[in-house]
Amino acid sequence: MNAEAIIDALATQGWCVHHDFLPDAPVAALRGVCLARQASGGFHAAGVGAGQSRVISELRQDRILWLEADDPAPAVQDYLAAMASLRQAVNRELMLGLFELEAHFAAYPPGAFYQRHLDRFREDDRRVLTVILYLNADWTPADGGQLRFWPQASAPADCLDILPTGGTLVTFLSDRFWHEVLPARRERLAITGWFKRR
Ligand code: OGA
Ligand code: MN
Repeated sequence: MNAEAIIDALATQGWCVHHDFLPDAPVAALRGVCLARQASGGFHAAGVGAGQSRVISELRQDRILWLEADDPAPAVQDYLAAMASLRQAVNRELMLGLFELEAHFAAYPPGAFYQRHLDRFREDDRRVLTVILYLNADWTPADGGQLRFWPQASAPADCLDILPTGGTLVTFLSDRFWHEVLPARRERLAITGWFKRR
């Protein structure tokens, strides 16, 4: 894992797109776990706000499954270990006080979107750093599903579109950057996580 590049980008601009955070094999293993749990009915419609109790399909249409620390899948344990070392490196260099990770698998069916939003809730401001790991094989621009990301609130016209290619990790300060998920032509898979402070 190349935490240094991520930390440098977070320090200078508050966000980072890292294209080869994980190699193909662990990404494929995570994708396999994600698909198997989806097939066995483990996912539910995602909600909005702290606690995610309100399902508002005008805002977001993904289906999710929260990860637990004692997940039995080795691929999930490897993911959690990679996030733990990223958390330690970020805390050492940037002193963000990251304490725990909450993370879920997210599956967007074809055509599903998540409208423009910020990740920090009004009711609960503990989310500090968003980490999104994409799990999709052979994604092309024609598949859609880009993460549309606004690096500067002051320049609302200037956005960038990030492809959800397997192994890409997107990190950004949760309270600062507007973003949305564009509809895709294929099912779009990710693990979305938030490092929280105490
Ligand atoms: C989210 C989110 C972006 C993505 O779950 O809050 O913005 O690219 N996801 O999946
Ligand atoms: Mn978000």
